[in-house]
Amino acid sequence: LRVLFVLSEMVPYSKTGGLADVGGALPLALQQLGDDIRVLVPWYGRPDLNEMHRICSVNVPYTHEAAEIWITTNRPQVYFLRYPAYYERGGGPYQNTLGQDWPDNPRRFALLNRVAVELAQGRVAGLDWRPDLVHVHDWQTGLIPYLLELETRVGNTRPATLFTIHNLAYQGRFDPAIMTELHMPGADFHWQGTELYGAFSFMKAGLVYSDRLSTVSPTYAQEIQTDAFGMGLQGLLQQRAGQLSGILNGVDEVHWNPRADPYLPAHYHARNLVGKSQCKAQLQQHLGLEAQADFFLLGMISRLVDQKGIDMVLEVLPDLLQRGMQVAILGSGEKHYETRLQELAAIHPGRLAVHIGFDEGLSHRIEAGADAFLMPSRFEPCGLNQMYSLRYGTLPIVHQTGGLADTVVDAGDIARDYERNGFVFSIAHSDDLHHAVLRAAALFQQPAAWQRLQQQAMAGNYSWEHSALAYQRLYQQILARP
Ligand code: ADP
Ligand code: GLC
Repeated sequence: LRVLFVLSEMVPYSKTGGLADVGGALPLALQQLGDDIRVLVPWYGRPDLNEMHRICSVNVPYTHEAAEIWITTNRPQVYFLRYPAYYERGGGPYQNTLGQDWPDNPRRFALLNRVAVELAQGRVAGLDWRPDLVHVHDWQTGLIPYLLELETRVGNTRPATLFTIHNLAYQGRFDPAIMTELHMPGADFHWQGTELYGAFSFMKAGLVYSDRLSTVSPTYAQEIQTDAFGMGLQGLLQQRAGQLSGILNGVDEVHWNPRADPYLPAHYHARNLVGKSQCKAQLQQHLGLEAQADFFLLGMISRLVDQKGIDMVLEVLPDLLQRGMQVAILGSGEKHYETRLQELAAIHPGRLAVHIGFDEGLSHRIEAGADAFLMPSRFEPCGLNQMYSLRYGTLPIVHQTGGLADTVVDAGDIARDYERNGFVFSIAHSDDLHHAVLRAAALFQQPAAWQRLQQQAMAGNYSWEHSALAYQRLYQQILARP
């Protein structure tokens, strides 16, 4: 099976969140199952150019120069899209250093979509390869299924398409005036086409015109069909429910492995957790927390946005700290959250450590060193940190939603005795979060019971191979009945 995989960020080259982790792991897992997967991703100025070389150029109607495709010797199946004026600037893939969206995002990502279509249609000179299926991810790639549908209207054949929703909250909505500039036909700009509440939406285009849809957990696949989680797209998703699947993400088991993680000061496994205590002691010391083994240490690593429930955490923090718990938070995002967290940290030295920024090493050390992990997301399509936490024996405390509901089983769930691995609360309210943390803290006082949950958490199978098999089956179904 030949698959073109298109997305906007990918580990280890670029990352703002879990999408990049998926980009770094799923194509490899699929390749190991025997598929011919090639990934197209913009190149944002990394990695080092020395080991890269250009393989071809692609002309796109509305840009001045040709875009280029580069490859690196390490990962020959990755095609880096190079267009310096669009992608090689400071800041992040979607936003500038002030956290504002790049104003030319529609143009930047339309270019990625156009190039993907040229590749998919085998029209790139110097690249003798055509996929059977194009697998695209989130709004940044939403025009691809639509542009491929337009190909059939002029009599061309096209590969099959799969659109995976990683987060319905980001819809790529722009002023319809942009359509002229992007050479998008106005005729499809209506409620059954590319229009979403008056805007031109990349996400909507993907959802309407893709052959099949998927999202990153079974529960989120159900939730997005409801008014509470559908973000205005629930009607369309209900209509396409028969073509919508939920496939859980996995964990990169090489990168996230407490037995060998190079970021950790000590290593450990389920039957011997001594190394985990050493990680805790080091983390406390490094973050300026009082170095005591019996303090209950909570970790959190997150984009600081409404989705992640930081407001609830801010509400319960003073009480938790006052009860003698410690909290280590790593994140960046909305300025008002960053400021409030830093203010709180200043008045609770030794108890609350807040690190604003993006820090891969620290994220591993928090996963290993904390006793429990906070993830009170209001919605969570899949969520990776709760799975990293499970692997690291750091019991997750989660809101029962999306992928969190599909991976964490509450310590009090008698019916699922051997699967219990964390703490789950059902209503996204600070009182419920508070109650769940207190339950966790109480259980932490019973080392034998706590350790049993840790072992169950660490015994779970969160491998990408499992997900890759599910995607492979889905690809085959799509090709059998496009
Ligand atoms: P989302 O994609 O919605 O942000 P996920 O849980 O799927 O949520 O993935 C988030 C990923 O980003 C995880 O790999 C997490 O460790 C990482 N991450 C988030 N914030 C930071 C940060 N400040 N520093 C380092 N890694 C981070
Ligand atoms: C999105 C979601 C997150 C998911 C990730 C990868 O960023 O918010 O829940 O894990 O995509 O699929």
